[in-house]
Amino acid sequence: MKAMTLSANGGPDVLVLQDVPKPEIKPDQILVKVQAVAVNPIDCKIRKTGAFGYGVGSILGFDVSGTVEQAGALVHNLHVGDAVFYCPDFSLPGANAQYHAVRADIVAKKPTHLGYVEAASVPLTALTAWASLMEQGDLRLGQTVLIIGASGGVGSMAVQLAHAAGAYVFAVCSAANVGLVRSLGADRVIDRQSEDFAAVIQKEAGTVDLVFDCFGDTYASRSIPIVKPMGRIITIVDPKGDLSLGYRHNIAIHYVSLAFDSIRRRVDDMKIIAKLLDREILKPVVHKVMPLENLADAHRALESGGGFGKIVLTVSH
Ligand SMILES: NC(=O)c1ccc[n+]([C@@H]2O[C@H](COP(=O)([O-])OP(=O)(O)OC[C@H]3O[C@@H](n4cnc5c(N)ncnc54)[C@H](OP(=O)(O)O)[C@@H]3O)[C@@H](O)[C@H]2O)c1
Repeated sequence: MKAMTLSANGGPDVLVLQDVPKPEIKPDQILVKVQAVAVNPIDCKIRKTGAFGYGVGSILGFDVSGTVEQAGALVHNLHVGDAVFYCPDFSLPGANAQYHAVRADIVAKKPTHLGYVEAASVPLTALTAWASLMEQGDLRLGQTVLIIGASGGVGSMAVQLAHAAGAYVFAVCSAANVGLVRSLGADRVIDRQSEDFAAVIQKEAGTVDLVFDCFGDTYASRSIPIVKPMGRIITIVDPKGDLSLGYRHNIAIHYVSLAFDSIRRRVDDMKIIAKLLDREILKPVVHKVMPLENLADAHRALESGGGFGKIVLTVSH
């Protein structure tokens, strides 16, 4: 089969098209004929650093849609021909290829109203947003939330979830993406290039119950003064700056990591994400679509910024 593999760890040019053997499945796995794969910042980080042991010959790609080609003897929830979508495990081969082997329990049936491109754009970011806001963040009806990086892959899912959960949503993004983020359900969009997010919140709300930081840098430490005592800050990117003031303000600060999350939670949460898509509470946000062979361009586009939502690659057979 054709696959995009790493010829080394380094810049986007290390991603090369190769003929590799089709994966063989274990009894609890399915073989998926891949139709579409989305790119995430973690692909770029792994490509550069070799994190999780991905080196020469490895295949990346952690957001997938396709059809079941073959099912192992122990698989009862899926059948040949089913259309599916999922976020594969890190440290195992990814899905930037024509076929991908995956344990069946983390796979959900693709919502019928979504195409393969749209479906592939959702799992990793929606799982992260759900775990951060609804599980670790314990967001409740009527609370106020601040979402940083609101136009990105994770942020665009988080804004929709927070809005659907009945929260008042402050959202930070660049001027170019203000309209998009408002359309996803944000009540007050803060243009990070012309407004100081902490000053806006201080003036308009005083404090928030929850901050979801999808960018990192010093956003978490700068948020501490605008979080209510007993409030929460959730970050998914290593924060910089002094977080110690959070302790004195009685604020809980959590790091959520999909990579180190339990499989049990992945199985349960994918069912919830599929249901939210079915009910159109959550909608995919796709920025660009290109063929898998252009994966290096997709990595370059993601790394250079200036986009929104997801870049998705289509796989031909
Ligand atoms: N821990 C985990 O489990 C986990 C899971 C998923 C992702 N992540 C990490 O979370 C981060 C976000 O992921 P993603 O998929 O949402 O990435 P993404 O799609 O690249 O989105 C990042 C967003 O950050 C915004 N941004 C750029 N410069 C900024 C700045 N100076 N200040 C504030 N915002 C800025 C951009 O929007 P604007 O230009 O419109 O502001 C962009 O849309 C990545 O670092 C990723 O690796 C972690």
